[in-house]
Amino acid sequence: VTFDKVNIQAKSATGFFYAFQSVKKLLPANVMAGKKDATVTEYALPLVTITDEPRFNYRGFMLDVSRHFFTVDEVKRMLDVMSYYKMNAFHWHLTEDQGWRIEIKKYPKLTEIGAWRDRTVIGRNTEEYDNTRYGGFYTQEQAKEIVKYAGERYITVIPEVDLPGHMLAALAAYPEMGCTGGPYEVCPRWGVFEDVLCIGNEKSMQFLEDVMAEIIDIFPSKYIHIGGDEAPRTRWKKCPKCQARIRTEKLKADKNHTAEDRLQSYCMTRIEKLLNSKGRQIIGWDEILEGDVAPNATVMSWRGSAGGIKAAQLGHDVIMTPNDYCYFDYYQSEDTRHEPFAIGGFVPLEKVYSLNPTASLTEEQAKHILGTQANLWTEYIPTSEQVEYMVLPRMAALAEVQWTQLEKKDYTNFTTRLAGLIGLYRRDGLNYREPFRQQADSTATEKK
Ligand code: ACM
Ligand code: ZN
Repeated sequence: VTFDKVNIQAKSATGFFYAFQSVKKLLPANVMAGKKDATVTEYALPLVTITDEPRFNYRGFMLDVSRHFFTVDEVKRMLDVMSYYKMNAFHWHLTEDQGWRIEIKKYPKLTEIGAWRDRTVIGRNTEEYDNTRYGGFYTQEQAKEIVKYAGERYITVIPEVDLPGHMLAALAAYPEMGCTGGPYEVCPRWGVFEDVLCIGNEKSMQFLEDVMAEIIDIFPSKYIHIGGDEAPRTRWKKCPKCQARIRTEKLKADKNHTAEDRLQSYCMTRIEKLLNSKGRQIIGWDEILEGDVAPNATVMSWRGSAGGIKAAQLGHDVIMTPNDYCYFDYYQSEDTRHEPFAIGGFVPLEKVYSLNPTASLTEEQAKHILGTQANLWTEYIPTSEQVEYMVLPRMAALAEVQWTQLEKKDYTNFTTRLAGLIGLYRRDGLNYREPFRQQADSTATEKK
């Protein structure tokens, strides 16, 4: 920015888009988004030269739309927030025990039955339920609309179909795909459940392959997330079909892995091969390291950074989403009495900012760290307003982890810029947590 002009140069259209985001941030909060103050006719930009490029190529955010459902417009609003922070990967967690959220034409019951639960537990898995039907799903047309909207903001949508665990909603729709045959219920509680997909049943494997065929038609992304987290082996141990698969595939236990661990690897690898043959790559949660890792998989490290470090050492690409830095469903304050009811944990702003995704890796291993993302699980987040509250301003801190070169990161400097960001949140009507608010009233109780 000089006295008489603004000059933008970029290597690509994406670069121009990001440059405009930067220019927008230099303007006062009341100027943008058509909310021009009619009484003001001149706006001053500071005289600056910015030479900029991102530290990481993968700059993500994950939204769980299964525990609670968010409308197309609400998802678009989050994409707007992401684009403001120059994020480029929207990980869309579409399937869960508590709801299947994407239309699959070959299996209509997934959304006729699997998208709706009859009741939801009250609080943190009490014995009480609200007895209210809850749900929703996206048609394939709506999902494509989201892909397009994201693309206009240089964001890739990466869908997740979580398998072979977290599948109770699918099993409620098609009970023959579980080891016991059911009956199953679209899950009204939170947690990890023993009923998972029967990998011994060829029909279940066919189901996964059919679902993936429709998923890749909707989503043009290079990466497809196939989950792999939290799949108990209990049912497989007792299931004649799963045991027969273990025998025919010659899956063997060793000192680190059970034959059932290898059954999960068999499932992940089979889906990986299918997707690779269609020119796609898989991402899996770090549990896929337990067994034989699908050969070309990118590992998403969530149980801390250890899985990511191990995967990078093995030569796999990695996305770091360690829960102790990146789980935005965790509390933002230790004083939880003044916070909306949440899952637990404690990830304050400064902690998010302090993440270095390549810590304790050699230079060679660090090249496998594609980037980092925040995950928002929504068991206790029923509304879009609360999504915003959990995300802002922590997403601003994450954006600097994703973008800023390590030697330029400076938390104190970041805090001096927060006031400006808050002005923008207010202008756009975004809900946020006041970052350094005082907690005076010690008699208050936790908000429900
Ligand atoms: C996860 O948090 N279960 C990936
Ligand atoms: Zn089985």
